Amino acid sequence: MSDLMQTFPIRRIVEHGPGVKSFYFDKIFNVEAGQFINLWIPGLDEKPFSVSSITGDQIELSIKAYGPFSKEMMKKKAGDYLGIRGPFGKGFSFHDKALIIGGGIGIAPLRILAQKLKEQNNTFISLLGAVTRQEIIFSSWWDSLGQRHFTTDDGSLGLKGVVTDVLPEILKMNDIKYIYAAGPEIMFVKVKEMIDPTGIPYEFCMERYMKCGIGICGQCVLDGSGIRLCVEGPVLNKEALSGITELGMKHRDASGRRV
Ligand SMILES: Cc1cc2nc3c(=O)[nH]c(=O)nc-3n(C[C@H](O)[C@H](O)[C@H](O)COP(=O)(O)OP(=O)(O)OC[C@H]3O[C@@H](n4cnc5c(N)ncnc54)[C@H](O)[C@@H]3O)c2cc1C
Ligand code: FES
Repeated sequence: MSDLMQTFPIRRIVEHGPGVKSFYFDKIFNVEAGQFINLWIPGLDEKPFSVSSITGDQIELSIKAYGPFSKEMMKKKAGDYLGIRGPFGKGFSFHDKALIIGGGIGIAPLRILAQKLKEQNNTFISLLGAVTRQEIIFSSWWDSLGQRHFTTDDGSLGLKGVVTDVLPEILKMNDIKYIYAAGPEIMFVKVKEMIDPTGIPYEFCMERYMKCGIGICGQCVLDGSGIRLCVEGPVLNKEALSGITELGMKHRDASGRRV
């Protein structure tokens, strides 16, 4: 980990669809699957982003346009310089016979997880959902990895619906030993309700409004547990998640206020 801000040029950009892009930078550090970096646009802000893959000698960040920072990222061109600090946080552990569940741009950290699982000959099934097909980033790459299931709200790819519509059948038909999830918090709540009774262990990759990224400012503390998501997370296991009382209900806004 390096807390030193350094600037690097964007090497290339891949557009997945309107408002969803992947940005590639030289691989300037080693990174664990699930870790994140802080990206700085000079004069605007600094925001955390999961590393979504290591491809050759480059790292990838996959970003969806929501607000000021991510919309500004959509205007960036190859060759533009941005600041990077990190990598930060704790990543995924690796297990065989896994199920990977992703929602929306939350799929990003699951791509590097799938790369690492495959490198270590672990088998896995993927279940990925989004509003529409462009948000299931690298869908043909996921196709090539083996058994996969897609859902979209509009039915433009895979089953029309959400991942939790398909989850019970996958659990019934397969010998799943470990579950990974990343995506919107409402998805975690529903997935957790479904998998807790099975006793299968799991890890979720969570998001909170972050500032320092190194455990000092307290912005990302999770109520009930005191976990600083930027240090003890963003990947949390079943035991850690069981102590969080605000899951799916509250989070802190930019000022640190609980909303
Ligand atoms: C550890 C970590 C990893 C992250 N990895 C990624 C990543 O790989 N790709 C990525 O695109 N973003 C990722 N994010 C989110 C990212 O840091 C920014 O929050 C996001 O880009 C929005 O910032 P903004 O300034 O553009 O919009 P903001 O002004 O912060 O947000 C605009 C509006 O969108 C809502 N919003 C923000 N983020 C989300 C979201 N993820 N889902 C639904 N609504 C949201 C906000 O509540 C707000 O109402 C990650 C966050 C964390 C903490
Ligand atoms: S972002 Fe500052 S403590 Fe986590």
